[in-house]
Amino acid sequence: MSWHTNAIFYELYPRAFADGDGDGHGDFAGMRQKLEHLQWLGVDCIWLTPFYPSPLKDDGYDVSSYYGVHPAFGQLEDFKMAVEEIHRRGMKVIIDLVMNHTSDQHPWFKEARRSKDSPMRDFYVWSDTQNRYRDTRIIFLDTETSNWAYDEGSGEYYWHRFYSSQPDLNYDNPAVREEMLNTIRFWLDLGIDGFRIDAIPYLFEREGTNCENLPETHQYLQELRRFVDQHYPGRVLLAEANQWPQDLLPYFGEPGAEEFHLCFHFPVMPRLYMAIAREDRESVVRIMTETPPIPEGTQWATFLRNHDELTLEMVSPEDRKFMWDYYAPESRQRLNLGIRRRLAPLVENDRRKIELLHSLLFTLPGAPVLYYGDEIGMGDNISLPDRNGVRTPMQWSNAENGGFSTARPDALYSPVINDPVFGYTQVNVESQREDAESLLQTIRHMVLTRKNTAVLGLGRLEWLHDLPKETLCFWRKDENGAFLALHNLSARPITFALPEFEPGYEDLLKTGEIVRETIALPAYGYRWLLPR
Ligand code: NOJ
Repeated sequence: MSWHTNAIFYELYPRAFADGDGDGHGDFAGMRQKLEHLQWLGVDCIWLTPFYPSPLKDDGYDVSSYYGVHPAFGQLEDFKMAVEEIHRRGMKVIIDLVMNHTSDQHPWFKEARRSKDSPMRDFYVWSDTQNRYRDTRIIFLDTETSNWAYDEGSGEYYWHRFYSSQPDLNYDNPAVREEMLNTIRFWLDLGIDGFRIDAIPYLFEREGTNCENLPETHQYLQELRRFVDQHYPGRVLLAEANQWPQDLLPYFGEPGAEEFHLCFHFPVMPRLYMAIAREDRESVVRIMTETPPIPEGTQWATFLRNHDELTLEMVSPEDRKFMWDYYAPESRQRLNLGIRRRLAPLVENDRRKIELLHSLLFTLPGAPVLYYGDEIGMGDNISLPDRNGVRTPMQWSNAENGGFSTARPDALYSPVINDPVFGYTQVNVESQREDAESLLQTIRHMVLTRKNTAVLGLGRLEWLHDLPKETLCFWRKDENGAFLALHNLSARPITFALPEFEPGYEDLLKTGEIVRETIALPAYGYRWLLPR
């Protein structure tokens, strides 16, 4: 079994994690000093969000050079030292690769927009009208009105799926495809363990389609994977494709035509929150039932939150309305087709629900991806624009700036959360490490227990259907054994009979306790049981 199929991932925002040089921005030097926390937590692989040179109009997802480090994060040397330290501590690291588009400040685009005859013109997608590819949806609905932007200087429109400051690369151009392989080679040569690849459904455009998931895109991704397997065997690729499960399946590829080792499972995420809000397992059971089996050696990457809005693209309009009404009653909490809040505030800081969601994350199929700060129940800052409110400085201690930086508070890239409930004096790593009952300690206990329970990697899922709809109970089974996960999605205690098993079950989280016959789950309770 390859490591990635049963790994715990941790999404780390370098700007937000730890500031080593006191300039108010997180950097690689600061990160190095804090890796002990992740090792202690049981993280197997860190995912670093973009740290490339960038004007930071989309927080680094607007790359202006693929071959360097934004000066705020340090130098390439600092990156290498961080990678070394991650490896020394027994963890792996994957980095974000933003291959669909560049920043408009990338030298390629600056040159391409100089004139219609520029030798770089064909690196991007141009048109003299906005009428091409009209069946393509707009993703950043709150800011963009078209996927075309007019370039005054050269008198044509260029194509962009995200902000107009992020022109899409033209993958029909072999030189672009080649450049991307060079980029991949550069970073893999530095010893990283793989990539999380951004926005992959949109690489190619074809008239008469929605310009997503095209056969040409799959072909190129297969070429990319062959390149990685041939020159860097063992490195992994994780796909960010916000799509339905049946459209995601092809991104794993097939034997002989592989694509990704892991794909994020976007549709299950909002349904976990929906199930708790409705006290009904139905939406989760349905989406998991609609999730096709995936090829051997691949895995879903599952998550509760990430650095973006909690996306509601993969739910019906009725469900979206329900989720907005329930979890984002104020319009400023909404963004595009999603909700720009962190996990703890979403569930009103109800410890029981935070734990319940994590229990689902760790026991349902998939490799869990934690988002920095959620392990201590960090809050958000809704007064900040865009998604910045869920990207505030990590809260390490009750020292000034939450221990994130020694800079003057007004020099920080973002204010530290400082409200009475989620502020750094209440919520921080240091105090939760000292407290055996803290959320951090509970999540760590779940992480370590999951890592010791091999069946949770690839074990097949079997539902317990005969129980009340307020429960979400299932087996995971394979040659490693069986595991029974019990969840109460409701605010009322529920008692029910366990599937018969002689002599009983061992409660894995409360080590040693044996459970027989009936079980009483408190409101939002959960149990992890192993037949004995
Ligand atoms: C997906 C990333 O997660 C998001 O943060 C970014 O804005 C878009 N892709 C564009 O790169």
